[in-house]
Amino acid sequence: MSSVALKVLLVVEDGVDPAPIEEALPAGSRVTKSTLHGGGHAWTGLRAAAAEAELLLLGCSRQDAEALDLIETASRHTEDGLPVVVLYQGSPNGFMQQAFAAGADDLITLPQPPLELSFALEKAIARRRGNGQTRREGALITVVGPKGGTGKTLTACNLGVALAAHTSAPVVVDLDLQFGDVGLALGLKPERTIYDLATSVGSLDGDKIDGFLTKHDSGLHALLAPVRPDQAAAVTTQFLRAVLEGLRSRHEFVIVDTPPAFSPEVIASIDASTHLCVVGMLDALSLKDTKIGLETLSEMGYEPANITLVLNRADTSVGITQSDVERVLGRKPDVLVPSDRAIPRAITEGRAIVAAAPRSGAGRAYLELAEHLAKALAPQTSERAEPAAKARRSVLGIRGR
Ligand SMILES: Nc1ncnc2c1ncn2[C@@H]1O[C@H](COP(=O)(O)OP(=O)(O)OP(=O)(O)O)[C@@H](O)[C@H]1O
Ligand SMILES: [Mg+2]
Repeated sequence: MSSVALKVLLVVEDGVDPAPIEEALPAGSRVTKSTLHGGGHAWTGLRAAAAEAELLLLGCSRQDAEALDLIETASRHTEDGLPVVVLYQGSPNGFMQQAFAAGADDLITLPQPPLELSFALEKAIARRRGNGQTRREGALITVVGPKGGTGKTLTACNLGVALAAHTSAPVVVDLDLQFGDVGLALGLKPERTIYDLATSVGSLDGDKIDGFLTKHDSGLHALLAPVRPDQAAAVTTQFLRAVLEGLRSRHEFVIVDTPPAFSPEVIASIDASTHLCVVGMLDALSLKDTKIGLETLSEMGYEPANITLVLNRADTSVGITQSDVERVLGRKPDVLVPSDRAIPRAITEGRAIVAAAPRSGAGRAYLELAEHLAKALAPQTSERAEPAAKARRSVLGIRGR
């Protein structure tokens, strides 16, 4: 299971085996167990444990008032409304409706194969977290562009450095797992990379993830790509989802740089994103690919409002006018980045253009992009920070590993 470790109160009726439920929980979760014996008033004995818990899992098989009472009390009468996921052994029939009416957030039927139970629990937890009204979660911005060399890494790094002036410790994640160059572009040594995190022992939590970030002078933090292409396979989509979730729980802005493909990792990141930054370039081939990319994202359920379109090398004289661009892409680019000789120079020095030449055309464009996103996206509650796409993987037909 990919989620970050949780504090769980697991209550089961007599006859429901808690073992498979426990095994399906995120690694490192702390579980307090209790049994319902019938006879009512279960809540009294559970109040203290519920106050400590982040999630109540109720395993039941009888359609009785005690289970419904517990659901209602836990979900409605605790201070923040403890999320309740019901695991029903057998066919729930009418009980399903009653459980939801009492305040259950989700209902999963038992038995289930371990992996499916794990996945169902993960979804239930993620959904409940998304429904939370007050929990703050950082914005997750995935920088995408279907074509190679359009300026994705440039955009992700400069956005990250520029955002460091608006918020403490934004994070850039290098998801170009085989040939990532965020470290090079920012002059950072890859002492600890995402590969080291993926192959480290023990459970994954926010503290641990932060320990693998490399700090840049600007205040930006970076989770760097593996140093060798063969290490990329250690990063599974499950692991990646947990890392992004962990980072969002502690940082206001998480920016993900991607390779030029809709790989399973990129899909997973898009899937979890609150916002996308699409980077295209002013030439006919790149515009065609950007158009297809935007159409694909639209089919995946992304609203145009959740996509910022960056047109790189926007001043290049290639016989394409701004109105041609708008006609082809069906929208106006939000930010225009000119070609700038200061960029390759800054990259050679391992510096962001917003720091090396903030007054240059490109420097100003990226500062403007950061200001726009800082205003539009922060601070967020989890309600606003819900992943912006709804039906992505099915559209692309790619499944996570
Ligand atoms: N506006 C620009 N002006 C000058 N040079 C630029 C500009 N944009 C990009 N470049 C140059 O193009 C190269 C590719 O940029 P970048 O690495 O950001 O692209 P990318 O989309 O991340 O590529 P990939 O798909 O291979 O990851 C860089 O070396 C950079 O120097
Ligand atoms: Mg790149």
